[in-house]
Amino acid sequence: MNQEFQGKTLVISGGTRGIGKAIVYEFAKAGANIAFTYNSNAQIAEEMIKDLETNYKIKAKAYEFNILEPETYKELFEKIDQDFERIDYFISNAIISGRAVVGGYTKFMKLKPKGINNIFTATVNAFVVGAQEAAKRMEKVGGGSIISISSTGNLVYIENYAGHGTAKAAVEAMARYAATELGEKNIRVNVVSGGPIETDALRAFTNYEEVKQATIDLSPLNRMGQPEDLAGACLFLCSSKASWVTGHTFIVDGGTTFK
Ligand SMILES: NC(=O)c1ccc[n+]([C@@H]2O[C@H](COP(=O)([O-])OP(=O)(O)OC[C@H]3O[C@@H](n4cnc5c(N)ncnc54)[C@H](OP(=O)(O)O)[C@@H]3O)[C@@H](O)[C@H]2O)c1
Repeated sequence: MNQEFQGKTLVISGGTRGIGKAIVYEFAKAGANIAFTYNSNAQIAEEMIKDLETNYKIKAKAYEFNILEPETYKELFEKIDQDFERIDYFISNAIISGRAVVGGYTKFMKLKPKGINNIFTATVNAFVVGAQEAAKRMEKVGGGSIISISSTGNLVYIENYAGHGTAKAAVEAMARYAATELGEKNIRVNVVSGGPIETDALRAFTNYEEVKQATIDLSPLNRMGQPEDLAGACLFLCSSKASWVTGHTFIVDGGTTFK
């Protein structure tokens, strides 16, 4: 499976931490070139580029990007065009936290339109504009694979997660629409939906310790998810092994959702 990634390019939002970083390394190991975005961690991005180019012998570039301004994806892809010959895979991964989610990451009765809108913009609108720009480039090379990273918080209750959970439900539906319309261009669109994964985003949960213990208790595998657990699913969905998989949501939850 791995040879097929050599000379191809992955574009991914939010490559500097957590799940995005694990995906960057999974694709680098497979030989793909990587264009990834960062928001605040320019230095981490620089260090990653050096490491990726030295240890994996691939081309890697990082670009500053804010998912709260999805229209700027257009300029971003133009910059990527200057640096990379082709785009084969696009993964919409970045997520906002902190001040931007105030009024969105909270209990139902405290939800505010601004917080909900920010989460929707970062989750759904960013996926739409990024996937549109990526699809235009994929069409030129005969096809490609697009993935949105989602969460099982749209299937099961997670405290304070109403804003995120509803935006994730929306982006999963959006991905199915995209898959239906882009199939004729040989572009597959799928979702990887994770259960609780140990990253900064989850550590920012006010009830992190509680969520962590509950996940360990719920999972038949008796552990939390790690970023690498989602990265393998992304590599599979972008590979030719998944050539008839589109419009699908691949749940990677350590068995927690059923229990
Ligand atoms: N953690 C979980 O339990 C879990 C479970 C299922 C699904 N997910 C999903 O997986 C994805 C990644 O989550 P994560 O847990 O890996 O998050 P994370 O560790 O908090 O990393 C967030 C990434 O997004 C970037 N970012 C933050 N604010 C941004 C902004 N305004 N514009 C553009 N980029 C921004 C960060 O860049 P900087 O480092 O430069 O700030 C970082 O690379 C998200 O879609 C999330 O919903 C997470």
